[in-house]
Amino acid sequence: MHVSTGFLISSTTLSIDYVVLLFLRHYEAIYGSKRNEIHIFIMNKQLIMHIKGIQDLRKELGVRANIKREGEVSKIWARWIITHRSLFKQDYMYLPSDTEYDYQLLTELQTKGCDNPKAIYNFLIESCLVLNAKCGSLKAEMESGGIHGSLPVTLHEEGKYIILSCDGISDKLPISVYKKMGRMYKNAGLAPENIKNKYIWLIITFYSLLDCKGLQWAVPSAVMAILKQDMGCDVELFASPINSLHMNYYSLFPQDKYFGSRGNFFHAPDSHFTEGTFQVNPPFIVSLFVKTTERILDLLEKADSAGKNLTFIYIMPEWEDFSAYDMVAETRFCVRQIKLEAHQHYYYQYSTGGYIKARFGTLVIFLSTDMKCCGNELERAIKIAFCQPFNYSSLFR
Ligand SMILES: C[S@@+](CC[C@H](N)C(=O)[O-])C[C@H]1O[C@@H](n2cnc3c(N)ncnc32)[C@H](O)[C@@H]1O
Repeated sequence: MHVSTGFLISSTTLSIDYVVLLFLRHYEAIYGSKRNEIHIFIMNKQLIMHIKGIQDLRKELGVRANIKREGEVSKIWARWIITHRSLFKQDYMYLPSDTEYDYQLLTELQTKGCDNPKAIYNFLIESCLVLNAKCGSLKAEMESGGIHGSLPVTLHEEGKYIILSCDGISDKLPISVYKKMGRMYKNAGLAPENIKNKYIWLIITFYSLLDCKGLQWAVPSAVMAILKQDMGCDVELFASPINSLHMNYYSLFPQDKYFGSRGNFFHAPDSHFTEGTFQVNPPFIVSLFVKTTERILDLLEKADSAGKNLTFIYIMPEWEDFSAYDMVAETRFCVRQIKLEAHQHYYYQYSTGGYIKARFGTLVIFLSTDMKCCGNELERAIKIAFCQPFNYSSLFR
């Protein structure tokens, strides 16, 4: 296999690390607790190298595809990562490991005017193989609560933000979100408190590589508060440790579990969704809306046959020729549709701590086995809260 970039970790370096690792495991058997400091240092270094490899791969995608605008590269990259992680089983922490052919990626590259989209596609897949092969033991360590290591994560405040850095990789987060993540980490109780900042750093590093228009935008907390108060809805089917409002949520990456994530919505068993009320705000990716709709309608059929009350509050952009919307609008479970006009409602961006005015229309669709689950009062309250989230949220303090 030929991968012609200089950024990938050399296999010699890795195999030396691996030999050292084996030695340290043996050392631990003899000397007990001493092992942690040394062994974990190795893992930490490997983790940083893996992340730098991922960042370089994303940059290289833009260079090879000759896409000048950062936002456009992000869109292609984020759709690729999110779709593969959502729909196919993945063996590694971040990059896809499945072999499913991605026609959409080729089409997107073609649309951006790439001369040779197939070559770029092959380059991405081959690079994933190489990078993933070098992080096998890392994944196992991470999943058992193991990112300790001696490379420190440093923190400093800048206005309303906190900046977390490790070995030259830095990202910022509003202090309120940082604190919220701290509470979630503690509640989950899966890893020691003294390494909390390493996990927070890891999560914001991973998600900043996916932060792109509409993929991480959240329903304002004022709306969420109404849904909870009125319908007992406190589960988000699409979220991250950064943008979840509730402690009950599903998300993309396995390491999100350290912040209480219940895992990937598409891989969660049906038994999680037999009754109750769920908020559904998928990333704005057409294929994910289609898959989500198929799953939700199937779950509603099952609940209806079992005589259970099940409701999904589904947030959708108002797109043209949108088959997911047609499927939803035609079903007998579609109890109410609330339309929010373009330029008159807001989403919230947790990574910056600001509201974003939507330039498109949004539909809030109630899909339920209970025909009376949303009345006129509730509809009115939702509209006000979406359109004036700043004023409305003060009512809940
Ligand atoms: C539009 S944001 C939703 C933000 C906020 N939680 C809400 O519900 O308003 C979509 C979120 O879903 C996450 N996501 C993507 N694929 C997912 C999957 N298969 N399962 C669960 N969450 C996923 C994304 O990373 C992103 O954080």
